[in-house]
Amino acid sequence: MAFLLVLFCVFLSTTSTRNLASSKEVPFSPHDNYLVNCGSPTMTTLSDERTFRSDRQAASFLSSKDDILVAISSTKDVPNPLYLTARIFVQQATYNFKMTRPGWVWIRLHFYPINNDQFDLRNSVFSVSTEEVVLLHNFSVNNETKVVVKEYLLNVTTPLLYLKFTPMKHSAAFINAIEVVSAPDGLISDVGSTLFPVGDFSGLSNRAYQTLYRINVGGPIITPQNDTIGRTWESDDMYLQSRALAKNVSVSPSIINYPAGLSPLIAPNWVYASAVEMADAIEKPNFNITWKFDTDPAFDYLIRMHFCDIVSKSLNDLYFNVYINGKMAISGLDLSTITSNLAVPYYKDFVVNASLISDQLIVQIGPMNQNPGAVNAILNGLEVLKMSSSVGSLDGEFGVEGTDMGASKSNKGAVAAVGFAMMFGAFVGLGAMVIKWYKRPKDWEKKNSFSSWLLPLHAGHSTLMTSKNSMGSHRSNFYSSTLGLGRYFSFSELQEATGNFDQNAVIGVGGFGNVYLGHLDDGTKVAVKRGNPQSEQGITEFQTEIQMLSKLRHRHLVSLIGYCDENSEMILVYEYMSNGPLRDHLYGKNLPPLSWKQRLEICIGAARGLHYLHTGAAQGIIHRDVKTTNILLDENFIAKMADFGLSKNAPTMEQTHVSTAVKGSFGYLDPEYFRRQQLTDKSDVYSFGVVLLEALCARPAINPALPREQVNLAEWAMQWKKKGLLDKIIDPHLVGAINPESMKKFAEAAEKCLAEHGVDRPTMGDVLWNLEYALQLQEASSQGKLEEENKAEAATTTTSSSAGVVVAPTAIAPVNSSTPDNPQVVEANSAPAQVHAIDEHSGTTMFSQFAEINGR
Ligand SMILES: *[C@@H]1O[C@H](CO)[C@@H](O)[C@H](O)[C@H]1NC(C)=O
Ligand SMILES: *[C@@H]1O[C@H](CO)[C@@H](O)[C@H](O)[C@H]1NC(C)=O
Ligand SMILES: *[C@@H]1O[C@H](CO)[C@@H](O)[C@H](O)[C@H]1NC(C)=O
Ligand SMILES: *[C@@H]1O[C@H](CO)[C@@H](O)[C@H](O)[C@H]1NC(C)=O
Ligand SMILES: *[C@@H]1O[C@H](CO)[C@@H](O)[C@H](O)[C@H]1NC(C)=O
Ligand SMILES: *[C@@H]1O[C@H](CO)[C@@H](O)[C@H](O)[C@H]1NC(C)=O
Ligand SMILES: *[C@@H]1O[C@H](CO)[C@@H](O)[C@H](O)[C@H]1NC(C)=O
Repeated sequence: MAFLLVLFCVFLSTTSTRNLASSKEVPFSPHDNYLVNCGSPTMTTLSDERTFRSDRQAASFLSSKDDILVAISSTKDVPNPLYLTARIFVQQATYNFKMTRPGWVWIRLHFYPINNDQFDLRNSVFSVSTEEVVLLHNFSVNNETKVVVKEYLLNVTTPLLYLKFTPMKHSAAFINAIEVVSAPDGLISDVGSTLFPVGDFSGLSNRAYQTLYRINVGGPIITPQNDTIGRTWESDDMYLQSRALAKNVSVSPSIINYPAGLSPLIAPNWVYASAVEMADAIEKPNFNITWKFDTDPAFDYLIRMHFCDIVSKSLNDLYFNVYINGKMAISGLDLSTITSNLAVPYYKDFVVNASLISDQLIVQIGPMNQNPGAVNAILNGLEVLKMSSSVGSLDGEFGVEGTDMGASKSNKGAVAAVGFAMMFGAFVGLGAMVIKWYKRPKDWEKKNSFSSWLLPLHAGHSTLMTSKNSMGSHRSNFYSSTLGLGRYFSFSELQEATGNFDQNAVIGVGGFGNVYLGHLDDGTKVAVKRGNPQSEQGITEFQTEIQMLSKLRHRHLVSLIGYCDENSEMILVYEYMSNGPLRDHLYGKNLPPLSWKQRLEICIGAARGLHYLHTGAAQGIIHRDVKTTNILLDENFIAKMADFGLSKNAPTMEQTHVSTAVKGSFGYLDPEYFRRQQLTDKSDVYSFGVVLLEALCARPAINPALPREQVNLAEWAMQWKKKGLLDKIIDPHLVGAINPESMKKFAEAAEKCLAEHGVDRPTMGDVLWNLEYALQLQEASSQGKLEEENKAEAATTTTSSSAGVVVAPTAIAPVNSSTPDNPQVVEANSAPAQVHAIDEHSGTTMFSQFAEINGR
């Protein structure tokens, strides 16, 4: 009677453990499948036919401040080409993967300590975490030269999956290859059986797992090629105790007959087609077969056992016991009753509480006492998964929050919000944003409330967080040593000029401080920018601005007249731009509308300024905050670029990009820069594309008040452009006054600027050329009209006579210094950064590669 009850219980729990939808061998195709060979110059196809992309290609999802690529050339010592290259991080670095839908995801991390002359990777210590779970803490390969692969299974519920690599102090992190691959939904059900006390444990779908052991008992290793979902199953050789007691048995995999609700996704037929059974059971009828595994007693484990009766000659002949750590797990397992047939797979999940585990996990099978049938016991497969602890860790006692492994909670929320915003294109947001991936100062949260992330739309200067790292940290004398700052002003002189910094004289506001209109003694009007010494980011921006301006002189850049550093003031004095920001003349201020020609000339001026920044200055400079409020107009409506507070030196020829925290303004932000945090001058080109659309359509880059599809100007206008109907949404003031050819050229330039990938965007020089051309077309047509009106005879000139000087795009001058942030970069992305890329063909190739990695 008791026996029957046990059977009944087993049967009940069986039904709950099998819930894969189909028994058909439909090949599983993962929604997300990222295979990345880190640091590899090319893609790599393994012998199991899986192709790993390089993280140096366009589809890279890496963001790091410092990374070093190392490689070995010999394939002799490594099992496959994934281990020929590695990426080394000396600061926290993040890979991010876009997930198409929530669910189970495998993460596999491949480590092989490549011998190199920079770091002894065999002894480097680091941590790896996602936003929610610590995967590895204080990890090293323990001074051994061997391949280590770690596999995790996570229920990912956010649209971006982050993998953060954090080196321990005085060490470096490294990675050779990463797999992020969707797993079938039914792979792990929510409920497993507990042993002590016997019962059910629910909540498995909220845990994260690390695969510690996955074993094809009694059979050979199964490689990813032979597993429907790319798993590796090892042989049980290493874990089997008293080998003489065990005997291998195997059958042809083709006879394995999956029942309804169980498919090869749970385990391939190769697993069920081999088993270990009792050797010499007739002579010595009573013993157990034992396997032992090293485990960490601080964690709970999910243990999945696979059974399939491939040894019996007939049904109802095999009954045996299964033990875990000396406790009865299944008493009198009767596969015949459960599966109703031979060679039918069955599996059962056990949740083993840490309290049951010493530092070893012991699995045993043995015959049942008073066995009615044959004396035997079998096991076909075994999986041991470590379960994440209550604080969200799979290694060590701390969760993501409890360590210095990165984002604080508020940061996490913000990043997620921004992630969604970028992905779904409709952030109902305010002025400026920043995402900071790197370690914050400890008191960050105290000092910066969430509100400081969001600025008034019309701020003259964006307030943005800046890390404490950068240039010259001593406020007192940081620019007295800098040359080229122009005239020195005394504080009293500026007090007088601004009416003692009168609120009514304020013409701009930012996190940096206020900008005042000043009247000098000689009647000259100046703009006086007074830094707020309380503002940390203000100081950094102030310093950056000074460093930049001290080496820049150009007709289309706002020029510095002088400065004042008396009484630890931080004041810069600029030429006054009496017509203010371009934006005010486009919308919102009821100023007289600019003509199309004026808009073209202003855009051309701004483009010249940017072109100079990118190519002409002593070093290439990336503005990083190109927008219509940073294009100022003087009394003659000559456009000048302003606000260099966020600017950065462009990457060197070898570098191709600067890795940096993302900064900029909503609506103008280069999506590629956002994704990869790798800054190039093409990020400015993207933002400039938005400026062009603003000039054409006379509306803000982001207008949260509009219907969702219209909120983001760049997206909305490009939709209309694709339909060939862009003229339907232009500024009504331009309708009829704009030459269609000129507008077409202009819109094409904007579209190219907004290309998804930086390499597909033109240089500022190319943009300039196109704008000049658009101006020529406009002037030719208005001249034509004039001539018609005057009934003049023959036009003596063609378009060229009426146009301004056409500046041919100049080649970008090589820049040779490494940026202060990146002294460590030995080698980086080898793709050419400065492709004059309007080559449609190369663009397509790039895009298809990208589509491929995403779509697989
Ligand atoms: C990392 O591990 C080493 C020994 O393996 C230990 O001495 C050290 O305290 C650990 N550090 C942390 C932060 O856990
Ligand atoms: C690493 O192993 C080598 C020998 O393989 C040994 O000479 C060296 O001392 C070890 N280093 C550490 C830090 O244990
Ligand atoms: C993942 O977790 C969420 C909530 O934690 C749950 O609703 C969902 O069913 C889980 N997904 C799977 C595949 O178990
Ligand atoms: C069972 O087969 C595997 C793989 O073929 C082998 O490694 C192992 O030694 C065998 N075990 C026994 C007990 O013979
Ligand atoms: C793996 O598959 C190949 C080809 O399908 C087959 O020859 C090989 O025996 C299989 N090995 C295992 C362990 O399943
Ligand atoms: C098999 O192992 C279980 C649990 O460790 C133990 O209780 C039982 O006595 C063992 N059976 C034999 C025959 O050794
Ligand atoms: C393990 O046991 C402890 C206390 O006995 C309990 O709080 C915890 O929930 C158990 N964990 C699992 C996975 O059953």
